[in-house]
Amino acid sequence: MNILILGSGGREHSLAWAVLQNPKCDKLIVAPGNAGIAQIADCAAIDIESGGDVVSFAEANAIDFVIVGPEAPLAAGVANRLREAGILVFGPSAAAAQLEASKSFTKEICAAANAPTASYGHFTDAEAAKAYIREQGAPIVVKADGLAAGKGVIVAMDEQTALDAIDDMFGGAFGGAGAEVVIEEFMEGEEASLFVLCDGEDILSIGTAQDHKRVGEGDTGLNTGGMGAYSPASVLSAEIEALAMDQIVRPTMAEMVKRGMPFQGVLYVGLMIKDGKPRLVEYNVRFGDPECQVLMMRLGAQAMDLMHAAAQGRLGQAQVNWGDDHAITVVMAAKGYPGAYEKGTEIKGLDALPEDSSNMVFHAGTKAESGAVLASGGRVLNVTARGASLKEARDRAYEMVEAIDWPGGFYRRDIGWRAL
Ligand code: AMP
Ligand code: GLY
Repeated sequence: MNILILGSGGREHSLAWAVLQNPKCDKLIVAPGNAGIAQIADCAAIDIESGGDVVSFAEANAIDFVIVGPEAPLAAGVANRLREAGILVFGPSAAAAQLEASKSFTKEICAAANAPTASYGHFTDAEAAKAYIREQGAPIVVKADGLAAGKGVIVAMDEQTALDAIDDMFGGAFGGAGAEVVIEEFMEGEEASLFVLCDGEDILSIGTAQDHKRVGEGDTGLNTGGMGAYSPASVLSAEIEALAMDQIVRPTMAEMVKRGMPFQGVLYVGLMIKDGKPRLVEYNVRFGDPECQVLMMRLGAQAMDLMHAAAQGRLGQAQVNWGDDHAITVVMAAKGYPGAYEKGTEIKGLDALPEDSSNMVFHAGTKAESGAVLASGGRVLNVTARGASLKEARDRAYEMVEAIDWPGGFYRRDIGWRAL
């Protein structure tokens, strides 16, 4: 099979790494890819948000199967275009991608599906939004309705912060994404994520993970795209997973079918867990980054078969072969991230590290220049390890982190702390 993966982050590096372990993969191209991906696969510089460009590229390269990494091409309808062209694709239609691209759409679906989640109001007018905030009081959560690259959510512990967030959003701080807002009840509890594959009909759980969204140790400081993750997430027990499947995931998927927009791809189910009960925080219509890196390390070669089965509507016969293992990934980011950071600092010591089925450094934002690896983004490396216990995996990952010589970078030393 000739495979094309769309995306350029650590998530896509881990997807490429897993796909290459599967003997059914004859050729792999990643577009646009990055310096780490270029070490294991061909990379192609195409505009992955243009359905036309992706279809022509796939046809010219005899691609049999396309795996879409990030949300933007999905929201832009790239999966629709591929399907129309008769090319097999893993990823939802633009209509189904609204589960991530529109917070108000998701809240409405949850209400119709009776899925437990925060109570909310949806506003297109700043004054009405402010009146709702004053009526509800703080803490309260203000969200830009559309895609805002993970930055459109303000968890306001006091009323003034929430009111200021409304001014920012209606003032254009998030572009079109902020012209509508969803205001939510603040939910307490511990967050964890469940990942399920869907083929429009059947649903298969492929694992749990916990992300570390804050930049600082002890989960303090600014929100980031994620500073590390581990799988499985012990807080998401089998009982809680069963409740989440019965009360949240299945009713949502059934509601999507009822509306004529069946979901096909991976659904990232962000949950808040309190007193043994899960409530939905958010859906994403793609793998998490860096959660994907730990899932791929645990799934290995079967990941491709599972995604292929989802794309072909064969999930009913598929199953996951789980090892009793744990995986962890530590994000190394450029100093200053998530604020302003320097690009182009050199990273040394990567060549001396092991790369095997239990140890991998996935590249998120790097570029190769005259034989050197340079940082080219905020989140730069995902140092990932697998072990028989979370502690073993963590110790291995930090051994690798410490062997990397990158004065321009930093990392959190406490990834996995809630479970350890
Ligand atoms: P989202 O983009 O919707 O996942 O929100 C980003 C982060 O904000 C989540 O991962 C939570 O940590 C936090 N958050 C979002 N909604 C709520 C809520 N209703 N209550 C508490 N925290 C929330
Ligand atoms: N790590 C969080 C996300 O991918 O949305």
